[in-house]
Amino acid sequence: MSLQNRRIVMASRPKGAPTPDNFRLETTTVPAPAAGEVLLKTLSLSLDPYMRGRMSDAPSYAPPLELNDVMVGGTVSRVEASNHPGYQVGDVVLGFSGWQEYEISNGEGLTKLDRSLTQPSLALGVLGMPGFTAYLGLLDIGNPQAGETVVVAAATGAVGSVVGQIAKLKGCRVIGIAGGAEKCRYAVEELGFDACLDHRADNLAAQLAAASPNGIDVYYENVGGKVFDAVMPLLNDNARVPICGVISQYNAESLPAGPDRLPLLTSLLLKKRIRMQGFIILDHWHRYGEFAAAMGPWLKAGQIKFREDIVAGLENAPQAFIGLLEGRNFGKLVIRVAD
Ligand SMILES: NC(=O)c1ccc[n+]([C@@H]2O[C@H](COP(=O)([O-])OP(=O)(O)OC[C@H]3O[C@@H](n4cnc5c(N)ncnc54)[C@H](OP(=O)(O)O)[C@@H]3O)[C@@H](O)[C@H]2O)c1
Repeated sequence: MSLQNRRIVMASRPKGAPTPDNFRLETTTVPAPAAGEVLLKTLSLSLDPYMRGRMSDAPSYAPPLELNDVMVGGTVSRVEASNHPGYQVGDVVLGFSGWQEYEISNGEGLTKLDRSLTQPSLALGVLGMPGFTAYLGLLDIGNPQAGETVVVAAATGAVGSVVGQIAKLKGCRVIGIAGGAEKCRYAVEELGFDACLDHRADNLAAQLAAASPNGIDVYYENVGGKVFDAVMPLLNDNARVPICGVISQYNAESLPAGPDRLPLLTSLLLKKRIRMQGFIILDHWHRYGEFAAAMGPWLKAGQIKFREDIVAGLENAPQAFIGLLEGRNFGKLVIRVAD
């Protein structure tokens, strides 16, 4: 019997928050791999906020998905059959198969994972793109110095949890901002942050001011919106603001209602000599080795902790992704596609 592939395609573009109707589960037949090709079976699929951007046709740093395209995504897969000299059956690889159970690949863009890696899904999280994003944005742009105050939102997520822990390793005071008491408890008690505030609190700005008696030197921006509003007046002279993401705006169809705060922001940047810089991790992939050399020992020594939020079954990816944009994940969101 021929091998069947279940895959999830973009059925329609979301208007505002994605809904289940924007996705469609399809079954196709998998061809045999030709010469120079491998058959990959997806084990784990990473779900990440950037996928919302790919579903939109607004101009961005990467081309949008077209209707009926397989949803994109980083994957950990096992080689099931190989006609490629570089891969053997049983190799486990990091790739970009997207939201599907099987892919035929010519090997381009695949990275063989070390067989000693007992938890290969970490290559999608703390040891992969999100961990690297945290490392590069914080250290290159944030340039945190011992004794400084660092604030990070989405603080228990794939990126934010690593940002805060590296800042602690650099001797900073770290304040996390997260959605709810349980996430905040985890940030302080498990990740070692000095404080964590719930962004849903009515008095977030007052709480943040009380938690930052010396102002804020680095704000690692993951969220935007009202969190940025609370941070802005507390930024110190020469503060650094790496702009990594603005997830609170990803579902927005238009700019928020006035007043126009751009003049306030630009005069603040000027008077306080603040450096604010956006970055996209794809531009920095040549530095991945440097990150891996630092992160490996931190993980081994237990200096960086991580949490995965694992959802079983490809068919549950749309709901899990919708939840990611609402803060329902707790840790790095991964779909377990196969054992
Ligand atoms: N620049 C780059 O190259 C790059 C690379 C990777 C990731 N990123 C960005 O980094 C950020 C974090 O990504 P991640 O993968 O680590 O995701 P994540 O933090 O694991 O999950 C997303 C989290 O964002 C928070 N959130 C969602 N909607 C929100 C809203 N409306 N207001 C406030 N918080 C909201 C939720 O946490 P709470 O419940 O705690 O609020 C949710 O759990 C995202 O903005 C992402 O786009 C950028």
